[in-house]
Amino acid sequence: MRSARATACSNIALVKYWGKRADTDPDLNLPDVGSLSLTLADLATVTTVRPAVDGRDHFELDGVPLDGRPARRIAEHLDRVWAAAGLRGSRPACVVESENHLPTAAGLASSASGFAALTCAAAAAFEADLDDAALSALARRGSGSAARSIFGGFVRLDRGVRPDGSDCVARPVAGPDHWDVRLLVVRTTTGPKKVGSTEGMERCRTTSPYYRAWVETSEADLDAATEAVLDRDIDRLGPIMEHSCFKMHAAMMASRPPLLYWKGTTVDAIHEVWALREAGCPAYLTIDAGPHVKVLVPANRADEAAGRLRTVPGVEAVTIHAPGPAARVEVLP
Ligand code: PMV
Repeated sequence: MRSARATACSNIALVKYWGKRADTDPDLNLPDVGSLSLTLADLATVTTVRPAVDGRDHFELDGVPLDGRPARRIAEHLDRVWAAAGLRGSRPACVVESENHLPTAAGLASSASGFAALTCAAAAAFEADLDDAALSALARRGSGSAARSIFGGFVRLDRGVRPDGSDCVARPVAGPDHWDVRLLVVRTTTGPKKVGSTEGMERCRTTSPYYRAWVETSEADLDAATEAVLDRDIDRLGPIMEHSCFKMHAAMMASRPPLLYWKGTTVDAIHEVWALREAGCPAYLTIDAGPHVKVLVPANRADEAAGRLRTVPGVEAVTIHAPGPAARVEVLP
């Protein structure tokens, strides 16, 4: 094996993924709904994979050694990439060093950029001959949203129907230069840890009476949103994006026990986005499994929208992100 470094950007889903297929091998990590995302510039993870000279795996994130579940997830993922590369024998021990380049103000989870960067760096380190679709399918097994971070710009991940997941593939719908929009990350609070996405999705699937409705209606959102992106029509995309977000959160809230990721400031920021819209600024929001609000606006309205959202009491920071590039990899000497 050789040494390689990969950089992957984070992404935010405009049409959400929430829920895993129950009819397939859990290790495939297949989504129950397709999703459509925007890859974001300036929110990247840089990961280096090197052979370990002492024959033992060693993993670090931002200079801090990892153990327990995070380390197990990385080791399992390296095993998957090794197996996908079709290489014989056992996987060599690896040193993995990862750095998150997220503005400290962003308050975003990094599993999407993290597993995308790890997949690309490990594949290059193992000299695996895998195309982007294969890299994306591997990244998905680390974290569903990571499948989308292999590509830049607007990315669609289809659910597929086959039991082996071979038709669950991500593809770029339009590159980062297709449309001059910005995504604002409105950080509302730093609080105690949320319920993680895997646990939250399972709770929602098994207990929420709205879960089936969420799954059954998401495909139509995906198709309509994809068309709106291609047409660069924010006033068609925005309402679908908000509908997808609120349907997902309604299904979450109806779980037992309930999943409520919002804080009071989250609700205040939602109303501020709607007030902005009433005042003529085409701003539309989405919210992930956390308290922050993400707002899509045309690039020339980003400063105005960010300024208004910064005035909401409890908002800690607002950062502005352009569409970002695909993951990239370099082989190190
Ligand atoms: O990739 P995961 O397992 O962290 O799940 C991501 C789920 C959401 O962020 C809520 C939605 C999405 O599509 O990214």
